[in-house]
Amino acid sequence: MKFFIDTANLDQIKEAQELGILDGVTTNPSLMAKEGITGANNILKHYVDICSIVDGDVSAEVIATDFEGMVKEGEALADLHPQIVVKVPMIKEGIKAIKYFSDKGIKTNCTLVFSVGQALLAAKAGASYVSPFIGRLDDISNDGLNLIDEIRLVYDNYGYETEILAASVRHTMHIVECAKLGADVITAPLSAIEGLLKHPLTDNGLAQFLADYKKGN
Ligand code: G3P
Repeated sequence: MKFFIDTANLDQIKEAQELGILDGVTTNPSLMAKEGITGANNILKHYVDICSIVDGDVSAEVIATDFEGMVKEGEALADLHPQIVVKVPMIKEGIKAIKYFSDKGIKTNCTLVFSVGQALLAAKAGASYVSPFIGRLDDISNDGLNLIDEIRLVYDNYGYETEILAASVRHTMHIVECAKLGADVITAPLSAIEGLLKHPLTDNGLAQFLADYKKGN
């Protein structure tokens, strides 16, 4: 399973990259705003900065909601850097844009996906990634992980190559469960990724080993 970090914070991206487990980055307009990155030029520069830190795919989201606007913005984003994946919302115009980009060999990430039907359309249009938002489904008393399970079943039924990128991942168990269900990628905050490291028995065991070593030296 690939690990992406879901942030526009350069320090956190560097930290995950240094850990040696990072396969890519996802951003969205809210994450950009959270880092105080505003204005088209600053946002474009920030994408290039992110690409210079990581080796893998970097999702950059279009703001336009009409086909022509998405195509124009997406082509400009794709021209920025070979690692850029154009992130397109799951709306009618977005599906048309994904098909257009797919035909041109430009990678896409279909975002804001909350149902199997939406994921099926994204795959039909040729999306490189589909992003089901599992945490936001859990927030409204739906089962986000069940959506991952159902998309996996449908994609496997037909051999769709669109990668399931579990998004809106909030904690470590989301990551573990996504791995069990066969998600291709998770994108998570650094805290959830680093949470996987933690176990009290590891800490206790290490403290004991170090104490025993000191006794003999
Ligand atoms: O990748 C999508 C993600 O950023 C949404 O996460 O926590 O805002 O639901 P969240």
